Amino acid sequence: MNKNQKCVVMGVTGGIAAYKACEIVSRLKKLGYDVVVVMTKNATEFVTPLTFETLTNNPVCVGMFDRIQTWEVEHIALAKRADLFLIAPATANFIGKLNAGIADDMLTTTVMATRAPVLIAPAMNTNMYENPVTQRNIRQLEAQGYQFVEPESGRLACGDVGRGRLAQVETIVERAVELLCSK
Ligand SMILES: Cc1cc2nc3c(=O)[nH]c(=O)nc-3n(C[C@H](O)[C@H](O)[C@H](O)COP(=O)(O)O)c2cc1C
Repeated sequence: MNKNQKCVVMGVTGGIAAYKACEIVSRLKKLGYDVVVVMTKNATEFVTPLTFETLTNNPVCVGMFDRIQTWEVEHIALAKRADLFLIAPATANFIGKLNAGIADDMLTTTVMATRAPVLIAPAMNTNMYENPVTQRNIRQLEAQGYQFVEPESGRLACGDVGRGRLAQVETIVERAVELLCSK
């Protein structure tokens, strides 16, 4: 980890769009940022930590009690190191847990411990996205200063058509860079 580089801590959650996180990480790296990936356990069903480790040259954090030996109290050190915390894709589950203040895994715990700007890119089935519970969670998180990149409308992996597809990689990277530059 190069201490002079700006650091993006990137949360990846268990949705079908997790593969797109690889491209986001790769672009952020090419722009010169240090990127550390924190995955939920469910995210590892979609993409392996090895892929992100190779793309970032950093260890990937998954388990709260894993021993990586890089940071003293890992989630706190990582939360402090972040210049930006980006979660892409963010599941309905993650958004709900964050809004409820639940910190039961490495990702939710680290997000709660950070003072960096947090940018969340949701991706889910249209009915899940439009569910009033999800919409309420998003509104409440926005009111607390969390920022969102709205998902797009289109054909989703499940075959449904509607809002819920992860925003374009370019859009997410642009918003991330804007926040990193304004810090
Ligand atoms: C094939 C498959 C695709 C899924 N895609 C999504 C998705 O795009 N968005 C979402 O919110 N949940 C999706 N889920 C459900 C989540 O994996 C589930 O809610 C899980 O608890 C999320 O855990 P996490 O938030 O800790 O990663 C999917 C599940 C499966 C089996």
